[in-house]
Amino acid sequence: MTASQIRFDSRVAVITGAGGGLGKTYALELARRGAKIVVNDLGGAVDGAGGSSSAADACVAEIKAAGGQAIASYDTVSTPEGGNAIIARALEAFGQVDIVINNAGILRDKSFAKLEPKDLEAVLDVHLRGAFHVSQPAFRAMKDRNYGRFLFTSSAAGIFGNFGQANYGAAKMGLVGLSNVLAVEGARNNIKSNVIAPIARTRMTEQLLGPLATLLDPEQVTPIACYLVSEECPYTHEIFSVGGGRFARVFVGLARGWVAGKGTRPAVEDVRDHMADIMSTEGFSVPASINDEMQVLMTALK
Ligand code: NAI
Repeated sequence: MTASQIRFDSRVAVITGAGGGLGKTYALELARRGAKIVVNDLGGAVDGAGGSSSAADACVAEIKAAGGQAIASYDTVSTPEGGNAIIARALEAFGQVDIVINNAGILRDKSFAKLEPKDLEAVLDVHLRGAFHVSQPAFRAMKDRNYGRFLFTSSAAGIFGNFGQANYGAAKMGLVGLSNVLAVEGARNNIKSNVIAPIARTRMTEQLLGPLATLLDPEQVTPIACYLVSEECPYTHEIFSVGGGRFARVFVGLARGWVAGKGTRPAVEDVRDHMADIMSTEGFSVPASINDEMQVLMTALK
């Protein structure tokens, strides 16, 4: 390790779903680097059923045994009351909140034709509404101190699509939208927000990864998660695919497109005849907000 080691001394990190899997690796690593940790975990099954304090407690015990500082939180992320309680726990115990890693998650996989409304609700509640409920009180506290780092956990299942995960994919892509807006709204207050789409062997995926599983340690995701919530991270409004020691930017690009011309009313056939231009990715840009897209449109219509 060099002199420019990344440290988190005096930082307070809330990590949801940190009783096991990926979240626990973030908690252990951030604590090792000096952060005070709120280890939140409801302690239920992969499908969200049940609950127990043992997962969060075990992670806290491990951090303390290694000389770090941590407290447990057993509240669910999936209600406004739960989200408020999780952030209140950080504020009461440590006086501030600098980092939120929205990581809690469950699965209710079924093909789209067979999905029931309750499978949609349960998954949206934990992933999308959960991240909203935890992040909102944290965002308010961060704004007051002009500092904050958010990390959201998306998935290739939403960003790229996967059979049998309509509920999960929708929730996971929703988190990209949430992070993008926090990046825009937080910019003035040094609040940064990014997304990772991890691939790792955990209890959630051990049945799904096949022979690749042995190559996909959760600890291989940990370094980018920690970097993205560090003070020195200049990035915001980004998405990264990470797994097995590979780290790659994922981006939403805007193609140059076809411009029918200012004031024209193109016909359906005009669109058909210009699909090659509309589809071309040559000269694309990566807008950092809706304003960037409006700028592209204004230039095109000049
Ligand atoms: P995991 O099942 O080990 O971790 C999820 C944790 O969230 C569990 O400890 C669980 O008790 C907790 N949790 C569930 N509902 C909760 C609630 N309502 N409130 C508080 N805690 C709750 O699985 P893993 O793989 O570590 O998942 C972490 C995140 O990464 C999840 O958001 C998952 O969707 C995401 N992810 C994981 C991938 C992988 O390859 N492992 C792939 C893509 C995304």
